[in-house]
Amino acid sequence: MSYEKYKARVPDTAPANGGILDSEALALVSFCDLYNIDVLIESGVFLGRSTEILCNYFIEQPLEIHSMDLRIIGEVSEKLSVFKNLTLHECDSTEKIPELISLFTDKKVGLFIDGPKGSLQLDLAKKYINDVEFVALHDVGKEYTENTLENINKDTHQEFITWDKSRFITTESWYSDEYSCLNEDQINWLRGRDVDKWPKRDDGYDSAAWNPVLDKIFPFGFGLGVAVKDEE
Ligand SMILES: C[S@@+](CC[C@H](N)C(=O)[O-])C[C@H]1O[C@@H](n2cnc3c(N)ncnc32)[C@H](O)[C@@H]1O
Repeated sequence: MSYEKYKARVPDTAPANGGILDSEALALVSFCDLYNIDVLIESGVFLGRSTEILCNYFIEQPLEIHSMDLRIIGEVSEKLSVFKNLTLHECDSTEKIPELISLFTDKKVGLFIDGPKGSLQLDLAKKYINDVEFVALHDVGKEYTENTLENINKDTHQEFITWDKSRFITTESWYSDEYSCLNEDQINWLRGRDVDKWPKRDDGYDSAAWNPVLDKIFPFGFGLGVAVKDEE
């Protein structure tokens, strides 16, 4: 992990509803570096926070990023159009992931799934783990999956950590003790608090319903888990 490298490459990116946190993004790019990934496939763009971070981090490298969502929001597509290392796909990733994997059989591919979630997410990860170097899954932390109001199977964390390919999760103490501090301002912003560097959240966020969930994941986050294929 090199937070210095991350900080030098990724400009301060405003938090976003549904977006990954910085300790989670740092882990994701570090796995891409570790496995010398040529192509990163991302499922779940939404407001584009993770996509923007990935594009900035890899901007000087030949790594290709393919990001997809069921619907790409016009403003998000426009914001991301500056990145030449990115191809956006408006599609169902359950169909697009195999298509892309078959195009890049001679390359090292990483897969990041941040939608769908829960059982569908784990099914996708298990289906393609042997075709890629690793699969990263967002929102698989114990505290998040057990307390979320999203329609996610409450056993998702348990199913992830008991999968024989799972290797790491950002909520592990050796990692979170070191890097959770990166998330504090972002989670405070998500909780609707005043954070000097960003305008206050005004998207109709239901703080009464969601703050108890975010309180449970402060400061370590939603949990980004990584599964790695067997060595050949
Ligand atoms: C939490 S958001 C992604 C947030 C983003 N990764 C970030 O960090 O800013 C989840 C997204 O996954 C998308 N999604 C869910 N199922 C999908 C599928 N089968 N194919 C493509 N996108 C999907 C949803 O439309 C939603 O926009």
